[in-house]
Amino acid sequence: MTRPSAIITGGARGIGLACAEALAEAGFDILVADLAEKPADGLPEKIVKHGAEFAHARCDIADLASHAALVEAAINAFGHVDCLVNNAGVGAVVRGDLLELKPDNFDRALAINLRGTLFLSQAVAKAMLATPAVSARSIITITSVSAAMASPERADYCISKAGLSMWVKNLALRLAAEDIGVFEVRPGIIRTDMTSGVSAKYDALIDGGLVPAKRWGEAADVGAVVAALASGKFGFSTGSVIDVDGALSVPRL
Ligand code: NAI
Repeated sequence: MTRPSAIITGGARGIGLACAEALAEAGFDILVADLAEKPADGLPEKIVKHGAEFAHARCDIADLASHAALVEAAINAFGHVDCLVNNAGVGAVVRGDLLELKPDNFDRALAINLRGTLFLSQAVAKAMLATPAVSARSIITITSVSAAMASPERADYCISKAGLSMWVKNLALRLAAEDIGVFEVRPGIIRTDMTSGVSAKYDALIDGGLVPAKRWGEAADVGAVVAALASGKFGFSTGSVIDVDGALSVPRL
């Protein structure tokens, strides 16, 4: 049987790495697209130990001109792309009063998180439509609870994720009849390099009851959900938002 393949942006570490590992374990061949020229030390081994093929492509998703080469690298490696995990993203350059938010910092968050992700999804969707399906197909975008919950000290990040959320809905409508599942995954507070600088703050908030599940999320919590969505078993749920946040976003009194 032909093995399905997946592109994971920002797959070198954190949530993206966990998605790559979970998808490899689920039988996907894996292309990790990240900023570095070469794969991170030990990364290929974490993928091939599951019997998966591993490929790497250097790509800054904000550079739209690099998208064609990324898609070509995946087609050259595997012959087809069956799953795209839009995971690459950056936090706010500065956390602070939104009245002091700088245009350059706003532009950076939007260029990577929203514009880059949107146009890469477009390029991969076209490539999917140009090749016959060998398995269930999906485009899975990692947004954040910040797509719906405001944090005035990093409004740029929230806006980038809220925009991405609306992109996912539109893309789901466009691709529904093509049988390509389009999903938004919204992590809550996940222990990765992105949150390491504010871990003391989140420790205190979690101790104080912010997260009903009373713990940090782990990257593997997100990876497991992504692998399940990519399996095709949730095909008729296309356009859905899946929270991976320990009930953080559930409104309560
Ligand atoms: P991280 O900072 O640990 O890893 C991000 C990865 O993306 C790195 O490998 C980095 O090199 C890569 N990357 C960054 N900019 C890129 C670009 N322009 N092109 C290609 N690759 C790029 O972050 P983490 O925590 O693993 O986050 C992954 C995704 O999950 C992000 O979209 C983030 O916004 C989202 N998220 C994270 C949460 C958390 O608590 N850690 C919570 C909610 C969402």
